[in-house]
Amino acid sequence: MGRVAVTDGMDEKAIEMITDNGHEVVVKHYTVEELLSGILADFDAVVVRSATKLTRDVINSSVNQQSRLKFIGRAGVGVDNIDIEAATEKNIVVCNTPRASTKSVVEMTIAHLLASCRNITTADRKLREGIWAKKELVGTELSGKSLGLIGYGRIAQGVGNIAKAFGMDLHAYDPYVPKEIAKKNNCRLHDDVDSIFRMCTHVSIHCNLTEETYHLVNSSRINQMPRKGDDGIDCGNHLINCARGGIVDEAAALEALESGQLSSVALDVFESEPATNNPLFAHDNFHGTPHIGAATKEAQARIGIEMASLIIETLNGEKPKTSLN
Ligand code: MLT
Repeated sequence: MGRVAVTDGMDEKAIEMITDNGHEVVVKHYTVEELLSGILADFDAVVVRSATKLTRDVINSSVNQQSRLKFIGRAGVGVDNIDIEAATEKNIVVCNTPRASTKSVVEMTIAHLLASCRNITTADRKLREGIWAKKELVGTELSGKSLGLIGYGRIAQGVGNIAKAFGMDLHAYDPYVPKEIAKKNNCRLHDDVDSIFRMCTHVSIHCNLTEETYHLVNSSRINQMPRKGDDGIDCGNHLINCARGGIVDEAAALEALESGQLSSVALDVFESEPATNNPLFAHDNFHGTPHIGAATKEAQARIGIEMASLIIETLNGEKPKTSLN
């Protein structure tokens, strides 16, 4: 029998799948101190989302001569909270579920894009305050504007395809994606990230957080955004991030909201999470969600089933086909 730690929650059906295969599942969030005390050494597998940070120190503390840990599962896409190199050195397999949440994050991004341009959250706040702001809240259409996608993987391509149906022109920056993919989707792939900011009034982030992408969206890039759409409409500039906190320099975004260079900032992810006291929250043209891009019943069910299958394979002594190391 294997022991599996689920530290940031997992779909009930997935837990059942693991226990039905004769393994024990412990659903419990551990503090950093508990993780550093080596608590994970008593488990064969650990499944995390973004809240648990499996740093080099935590991984090293989880491995001793009697330890059983052989599998780290990331129930989701981003693995910036797992030191894969440290795991590899300790012969621990790391797997994520990169496709399971694509549709949900695409839809979330589009929701933020539409909310940004049609003042949905401001309108709602005003209504609740008893203000009928019909004259004040004039939005702009997505049609005839340029959308810049930073990162052009599965999620960005999904967002692009929907935005195209709204009549947007697509631009993307992704040094790792073949040109043919962008061409097939009628998306102009740029060699230089700055030219996205120069050409696009709407920018949406879809890359991983790495040393290279940390604060990629900074004052100098935001200041290049054109404010005027390709159709000549003064639509302002709009920034959306449903990928990872830390890619947008939040202080720069706030400064740009204050100066009017950005007309809206919509974030699902924050540099420091949980974000409960972020200075952006005080600005009317900011709206946000608490990292819920993948939080749909459908995505969580898919993620859970995929993760449970990977764990069962590993506990049966097989090497998962889709590991990251
Ligand atoms: C992911 O990387 O899969 C998402 O950010 C979802 C999450 O961490 O909850």
